[in-house]
Amino acid sequence: MTKFSHRTNWQRSPNRLSALLGAVRENGSTITDLTLSNPTRCGIPYPDEMILAAMRQRAVLQYDPDPRGIPTARMAVAQYYRECGIQVDDDAILLTASTSEAYCLSFATLCDQGDAIAVPAPTYPLFEYLGQLSGVKTIPYSLRDDGHWSIDLESLEAACREGVKTMVFVHPHNPTGMFLKHDQFTLIKQMAIKYDVALIVDEVFRDYPLCEDVTRVTSTASEHEVLIFTLNGISKSIGLPQLKLGWIVVSGPDGQRKEAMERMEIVADSLLSVNAVVQHGLSELMLAGRGVRKQILDRIQTNLKDLQTTFAGTPLTLRRPEGGWYACVKIPNTRSEDEWVESLLAESGVLVHPGYYFDFHDDRTLVISLIPNPEEFKKGVDTMVRHIVGLS
Ligand SMILES: Cc1ncc(COP(=O)(O)O)c(C=O)c1O
Repeated sequence: MTKFSHRTNWQRSPNRLSALLGAVRENGSTITDLTLSNPTRCGIPYPDEMILAAMRQRAVLQYDPDPRGIPTARMAVAQYYRECGIQVDDDAILLTASTSEAYCLSFATLCDQGDAIAVPAPTYPLFEYLGQLSGVKTIPYSLRDDGHWSIDLESLEAACREGVKTMVFVHPHNPTGMFLKHDQFTLIKQMAIKYDVALIVDEVFRDYPLCEDVTRVTSTASEHEVLIFTLNGISKSIGLPQLKLGWIVVSGPDGQRKEAMERMEIVADSLLSVNAVVQHGLSELMLAGRGVRKQILDRIQTNLKDLQTTFAGTPLTLRRPEGGWYACVKIPNTRSEDEWVESLLAESGVLVHPGYYFDFHDDRTLVISLIPNPEEFKKGVDTMVRHIVGLS
């Protein structure tokens, strides 16, 4: 009998909601999918010809690998930051095949097997899997909901006391939309120095702020007081997840930054996973992507406005997100989250995420995507409200 790794000993059969979704689809029923977050499937107009032209470069015919990514592609990333007033050196950038891979490279550089990392709760369900793949344990720290979201610094410090090797932040956070604020970030940096812990900051949604706020950290990519790996990629920043390109900006005190980069370069050299087509096309893709980013942001604002209007005078409430692609909706607790989500799908044909997928434990949170086509979105939200009001 083949012996498989313990780390891949995951639940492989579909959970109840996936099984129900399969059955509803098999029945031929139409589903309004309010979980849709694939930007290429939401009717967002893309500059197809510009994207195709960007990938048609003669240079892709040669194999000329650079473990950090080819210089012109790193320059395109530095230019992306320059356009928002952030100075990042090309040499501080390392390209990866995705932001998820950027996490694995960061964990490999910072952690040994069995080490622990601090991750937010609630959270997009990514760290449990990536952590297990990398052989690291996740210790959750809490986010507080006191009318607005913030980091529970006491629980973060408790994770530091348990000896975590890195603290992970998502800025803005998925799914709450919370941005890191200057006052909390100052305390976090002090904590990082006190406990000698590096930071990983995931900024995949930083291009999608939904309101102005001067108290917000712009980007951690140009912060140098502590060692920080700032992660981002083109799957969200220009809506091209299929082209598979992410990056890490390494910043911090000179010695630490240099050593981190040298170590990470060896990790990247063992994989050389970023393909030439996307690297050679990156500067043109970034240009083409500006319009896509704007379309996505407009789409989110439109859907958010619709959500607020539709919820007025109903028992559903919305904590307006500060940024990102998601909305967290509070529903009446007259039924369990599972009952609401399953009845919405089975009886009204609307698919939403239950909050517990994201580690909400109040049994009254639904998470929906804000990027579906506005007509589809409106139809789904109207149906959801009718369903919940009708059964409350
Ligand atoms: C917060 C966050 N980070 C990273 C990722 C993964 O990004 P990528 O497609 O670049 O791997 C996602 C995907 O949705 C995400 O929500």
